[in-house]
Amino acid sequence: MNSEVNNRFPNVRFYNAALTEVQSDVEIGSGTRVGTFTLIHQGARIGQNCTIGSHCNICECQIGNSVSIQTACHITRGTIVEDNVFIGPGVVTLNDSLVGRALKAPTIKSGAKIGGGTVLLPGVTIGQNATVGSGAIVTKDVPEGATVVGNPARALLRSRLDATA
Ligand SMILES: CC(C)(COP(=O)(O)OP(=O)(O)OC[C@H]1O[C@@H](n2cnc3c(N)ncnc32)[C@H](O)[C@@H]1OP(=O)(O)O)[C@@H](O)C(=O)NCCC(=O)NCCS
Repeated sequence: MNSEVNNRFPNVRFYNAALTEVQSDVEIGSGTRVGTFTLIHQGARIGQNCTIGSHCNICECQIGNSVSIQTACHITRGTIVEDNVFIGPGVVTLNDSLVGRALKAPTIKSGAKIGGGTVLLPGVTIGQNATVGSGAIVTKDVPEGATVVGNPARALLRSRLDATA
């Protein structure tokens, strides 16, 4: 099916272009795929060879190359997602603390993996190659290479049985 977005982005594959809204002043790199019922807001910058799933809301943000964003994610305004990041389904990023401070969005460093259903609070940085377990609520920065789980997210501690194995 040919549509306005196919004409604007000939090197991007839209699963169903007629059911995808891409506002003005958006850049999407070649080889990127975009799912159905996804909205990409004005000013968004998306790199090459990314997968943007269906039912996503991609605000004015920066997304690197080879990033995978699964179904039903909210990527809030100002978020920075570096190269080779994986973002599982239903991840929510937030930029407004609701207590009067300036908006500050999360940063997700290269190679990090964010489990499905995670919430990233305003301003947190997920370190390079870090892993966030599914369902976590991340309230503080996650160090490079660390694995965190839970609410609030903490470093993953193995059980005593595992520790003695
Ligand atoms: C965090 C994660 C990476 C850890 O994987 P793992 O190293 O194989 O860990 P294990 O399954 O051995 O679990 C280790 C411990 O952490 C706990 N745990 C694992 N994942 C957890 C999570 N998401 N939240 C809270 N606790 C978790 C386990 O219960 C276990 O606790 P115990 O030691 O007290 O028994 C993984 O569980 C996870 O959440 N992956 C994300 C999956 C996902 O969202 N994929 C998206 C694409 S479909």
